[in-house]
Amino acid sequence: MKRLAILVSGRGSNFEAIAAHIAAGRLEAEIAAVISNNPEAPALGIARSRGIRAISMPSKGIDSDTYAAQVVEALAPLGIDLICLAGFMRRVGKPLLDAYPQRILNIHPALLPSFPGLEVQKAALEYGVKFSGCTVHFVDAGVDTGAIVGQAVVPVRDDDSPETLAERILKEEHKLYSECIAVVLSGAYRIEGRRVVRTATELKGKPPLVRLMEQAETDTRQYLGPAIAAQLSYWRQHASYSEGDLMRFLKEWLRREQASRVLTIERNGGISVEKIVLDFYPERFTEEERQLARKALGR
Ligand code: GRF
Repeated sequence: MKRLAILVSGRGSNFEAIAAHIAAGRLEAEIAAVISNNPEAPALGIARSRGIRAISMPSKGIDSDTYAAQVVEALAPLGIDLICLAGFMRRVGKPLLDAYPQRILNIHPALLPSFPGLEVQKAALEYGVKFSGCTVHFVDAGVDTGAIVGQAVVPVRDDDSPETLAERILKEEHKLYSECIAVVLSGAYRIEGRRVVRTATELKGKPPLVRLMEQAETDTRQYLGPAIAAQLSYWRQHASYSEGDLMRFLKEWLRREQASRVLTIERNGGISVEKIVLDFYPERFTEEERQLARKALGR
């Protein structure tokens, strides 16, 4: 299991969202520690109440590099795969960047490179942009300048205040961060210049359902049209490839399509979503879902 360290300074809603995605089986990872540079941060309390190691490491009066070296020391015994800054209000010093090259992520509540820095929802509103959003990026020595892993767009409304805009952006942050963490933990990307490019993942060694879903992309493009293929491709790219995820996608598919169409997953082999429900994993689906599947297959 890949191990995360989360660095916070305050409220901790992004940390909590990551913890919730993990607890619900949507993100395969483990939070090994939460470190706060602010001893008063509510995030520390959230960590303790979830039984997650909470480390208070005040940074007041300490320069960034010295502080970064202390964080490196605290994390060293914990075997951390990825550090996630979640509302961490200090610049990340060189010792930490050097110890975790391309292994530190940050979330920023604007569409970078627009509006880096602080109070960015207010800045976006005052500038008059019609769309804002959030960005997950690798951390480098600059302020909000690292390569972008993912972004989510949020429309700006005429009656928005910085607070209402921030609230809608935050909802997207809570989803986007875990999706991007999954991508980075999967290792299925490469960095070309500033671009984080997703790479095709190895099919071998994946659970059978993953192979089926990946095969389905090719097949559906050919047989069922681009819209469904695009949907499958979206699922595949946003999945952390756990079987649990794919089960949820299949369930979502069934609900949305009301099993009105049998999605053939294996060319000529006749394996469909509905067959997977009924024949492979009946116990994982509700009676209602099984009924939908039966209806679609005319059983
Ligand atoms: C979020 O808006 C995040 O994008 C920014 O700081 C805020 C932290 O909020 N970097 P929370 O502590 O995660 O609730």
